[in-house]
Order: sequence, then structure tokens, then C-alpha cells
Amino acid sequence: MRSSCLLLLVAVVAVAHGDRYHDQRGPAAAASSSRAIPPSEEEFAASYWYAEAFDAIEARLSPPAYDSVARNVVMFLGDGLSVPTLAPARTLRGQRQGRSGEEEQLAYERFPVTGLAKTYCLDAQIPDSACTATAFLCGAKGNIGTLGLTGHVTRWDCPASADRATHLESIAAWALADGRSAGFVTTTRVTHASPAGAYARSANRDWEHDGEVIGDGHNPALCPDIADQLINSYPGNQFKVILGGGRSNFRSNTTIDEEGEPGLRWDGRDLVEEWRAQRVAADVSHSYVWNRTELLQAIEDPPEYLLGLFEADHMRFEAAVREDGSDEPTLAEMTEAAIRVLSRNSRGFFLFVEGGRIDHGHHVNMPYLVLDETLALSDAVERVDSLLPAASSLLVLTADHSHAMAFNGYSRRGKDILGPSDDIGDDGVPYMTLSYTNGPGYRQQQSNERVDVTQDSNFMAIRWRTHAEVPFELETHGGDDVAVFARGPQQQLFTGLYEQSQLPHLMAHAACLGPAATLREACATSELKSERSTDASAPKI
Ligand SMILES: *[C@@H]1O[C@H](CO)[C@@H](O)[C@H](O)[C@H]1NC(C)=O
Ligand SMILES: *[C@@H]1O[C@H](CO)[C@@H](O)[C@H](O)[C@H]1NC(C)=O
Ligand SMILES: [Zn+2]
Repeated sequence: MRSSCLLLLVAVVAVAHGDRYHDQRGPAAAASSSRAIPPSEEEFAASYWYAEAFDAIEARLSPPAYDSVARNVVMFLGDGLSVPTLAPARTLRGQRQGRSGEEEQLAYERFPVTGLAKTYCLDAQIPDSACTATAFLCGAKGNIGTLGLTGHVTRWDCPASADRATHLESIAAWALADGRSAGFVTTTRVTHASPAGAYARSANRDWEHDGEVIGDGHNPALCPDIADQLINSYPGNQFKVILGGGRSNFRSNTTIDEEGEPGLRWDGRDLVEEWRAQRVAADVSHSYVWNRTELLQAIEDPPEYLLGLFEADHMRFEAAVREDGSDEPTLAEMTEAAIRVLSRNSRGFFLFVEGGRIDHGHHVNMPYLVLDETLALSDAVERVDSLLPAASSLLVLTADHSHAMAFNGYSRRGKDILGPSDDIGDDGVPYMTLSYTNGPGYRQQQSNERVDVTQDSNFMAIRWRTHAEVPFELETHGGDDVAVFARGPQQQLFTGLYEQSQLPHLMAHAACLGPAATLREACATSELKSERSTDASAPKI
């Protein structure tokens, strides 16, 4: 590092002294800016860092995790949870507890194994949540905007998607084929791209209700909308748990729902009623809920099937729900409910859990919402980690794609992660520790000067936008790799840097599911099979 810097210095010539690439403001300037929380006393001694490292070595040398077959697999997705989002989120959590924050570890960051996944799609250098969902739930890369289909189908090509040869199966379907249960939880509409990867085949992620299919000039009989597929097609119609938002895609546009919102469907159908009628006909216990109180009541005696639709559209940001105390469950509460229902099957389950609105916070350049939703996801991971032992249950957390947020500057340790940098630009104008390359936070220069955002009337409020370089109505995704965290049986499979489409195969291999199970001898032995079904270590609930 030092020698390469020296080379650069020689090349640039016009450098008087010091390291021009890492200029920090002098001590006087730092002292004059706002408060930063100092590190704890113990951190000043080298022995603190030695002990921390030795503990880590011992943890890594302790008996190589788990050779067993995973009975349960829980996949967590932080939609848009880019690598630059990880450190600010953990720092915010530490700072909320009155510490400097950078040293905090979120629940998934304590998982023993990490890797990196490459997120590009077949026709896209920088992907969307649909083609990435195809990759991390169905195990093959497809085209941008498409769900559950091979690369032979491009976006909006309804006729091509009607060819069954283009249809992919998800890991949720692999689990069902093995007699295990499957379900999902999300903070977005349940028909949104990420969860839809588990059950839908659609040439367009936006075909969430039939009116969208018709609007694009296609026939819903040939290309059924995503809500219809969830309720009436395999594997969605077998899911034991479906929790999230998006009620309006299930209801007719001639009706008003439980919370006074109009439905969107053109075909006059009520898919919630269809879901209920199917279960009445099959004579199985089931519960449809639309608020938190009802959800908590329903899981006191978990039904076999649980459908919860808590909003007409996406669920609300948890910060907004905390503010007005409305009757909406948290992601952690929904996740625990899902596990209670799925644990009725002693053979095990696959559960997909999405913190889906991290992405939305990024798109509007609002770091508070991004980090707060990330902490909500960490809370859900923590809940599952305590409910499902590592010997039987594989937990994996990743993101679908990155974003255009940067964590930058030379602030002191403990500086408010949501605040301005200790630094000031060469133009004498402050800038934020978290900012964006593009998005609606762009400010038009005023009399040739960069706008001082710290003077905004709502500066640092929950819905305040930080600054961005290129104007866009919505900020874009990023193309850099995303992190993968894993704990449980076969966790070691998740190290390295690999294609995102490997993920469902790695999870399935660990659980003896799907095509990759044939690669594992243990999956064929009757011994392990019986161990699996006799339930050696049942969930602690
Ligand atoms: C409602 O559905 C009808 C078809 O049943 C359609 O013609 C109409 O445009 C829809 N209205 C809205 C507001 O989408
Ligand atoms: C929750 O749902 C139940 C069942 O529809 C309803 O009776 C109750 O009023 C709802 N609670 C709130 C706070 O909306
Ligand atoms: Zn997005």
C-alpha cells in the first residue's frame, strides 16, 4: 500500500508534503465539529485486540461445524443490503446503545462463514430483484425483469414464457417434493419480485394482478398474474405460510378492503376467499389475518396454513409504525409466527424471509430508513437463531444486489453515522458520511456553489434525503458483489466468491434437496434419511 502510494506521488509531482491521498483535517478542525463517542477504555490496550483475535481463532478451530443433513433452511434476504450498508447499520445499532458503534456485531455478522456472490443477470451488468430472485431461489440466471424462467425468455415475452420448457423450479418446490414444508415472509407486497422467485413464472415482475397483464396487451389465461399463481398454482398453493403486504392484488377493483383501500383486480375475483375456500374444502386448519393482534392470536395455536396480508401495498417502514403505533407486526414477529407454523412438520421446512424495504430506503436516498430496516432484519435473524439450533438448521443471509451509497470521509471513531463528516469539501461546504452517486437527493447548485445540506429545515429527520451526484427520480442499484453469511449444517459450502445462482444449490445440498442432493453420498444412505425423519434435534418450540 505504502509503496504504491509513493509511486503515485512521484507520478503526480505537484505534492508539497504529507499524504495527499489521505488528507484529514487537523486536530483543531476536528475538535470544533460536533461530538463523537470515544472508544471504550479497554480498547487502548493491545491485550484487548489479542484476546479478541484468539477467541476468533478458537471459534474457527472448534469442531468443523456440522456434517449432518440440514432439516430446516431459512434464507434471509436484505433487498439491496449492499456491503457498504453493513458497517453503517451495525454502527447505528451500537450508537443507539450509547457506544461508539463501529465495534457492534449484528446477528448475521456472528455467523461463522461468509462469502461473496456475483449478482449480474443474463442480460444485465447491474441486476434487478426479479432476475436475482430467479438466481438465488431457482439456481439459474435469467433475464432482467423476469421471474422463475430460463434465459430463453426476455422481459414482457408472454408467449415464450408459456412454454413449460422455460420454467424453473425453486428450492421451495424442492423442499415440498421431499415432504417438507415451505413458506415466506416479506415486508413488501407478497407478490413483489423477491418472494415471487419462490413460486412464480412470469415474463414481467410487474404482472402482480391481471390488470397489469392485460395492460401490456396479454391474456391472463396464457400468462396468469403473480397473485393468481401464488394462490392457485404449484408450489405457491402448497405454502404453509405467506406473510407480508399487497392485499390489493388479491381483491377486485370493485371492492374496498379491511382498511378502506380499493382492490386492483379486473377479473372480479377475491383470491383471499379462494385461498380460504380451498382449505375449507380440504378440511385443514387455516387462518387469514390482516393485523398484528390477530396474527399473535392465530399463532397461540398455530394453524396448518397461515395467510397474513397486513397492508394493501408494501408494509410500512418499521420506524413509521413505531411512530404511530399502528397494529402492524414487525419482521421479527412475522418470522417467529412463520417458524411456529412450519415447525408442525417434523420433517423440516424451507422458509424465505425478506427485509424488502432496505432497497426502498436506498432508492429515495434516505439512509435512516435503510439502516433502520436493516436492524429490523437483524432482529428477525436473532429471533430465528435462538429458535432453531445450528445442528439441525441452516441459516443463510444475503442480498440480491448492491446500491449506489457510499460510506466515506475521515470522521473520528464514534461520529454519528447518520450525520455530516468531520471533513469539509475543498469548496468549504460540509458533506455527509453517507451519500449517493445518484438519486433524488441531487441538489441543483446555487450561484455555482454546492448546497449545504446541513441547513435543510428537516436535516437528519427520518425522511430527510442525503445528497446525490446525478439527478434521478429514484436512485439506481449497484453492480458490486453482495455478502453471504451462513451458519449450520454444511456452512463451509458458503465461503469464497461465486455466482449468486449457486446459492439454492448450496442450501439444497446441505439439506439433501433438489438436483444437488445427488452430489452428496450422505443423501442416499438410508441411515441419514432415518436420522432425518426421526427428528434427532427438534426445534426448541
Ligand atoms: C377495473 O376493472 C375493469 C374490468 O373489470 C376495467 O375495465 C377497469 O379499467 C378497472 N378499473 C381500474 C381503475 O383499474
Ligand atoms: C384486527 O382484525 C380483527 C379481525 O378482522 C378486527 O376485529 C380488529 O378490529 C382488528 N384490529 C385492529 C386494531 O384493526
Ligand atoms: Zn430496487
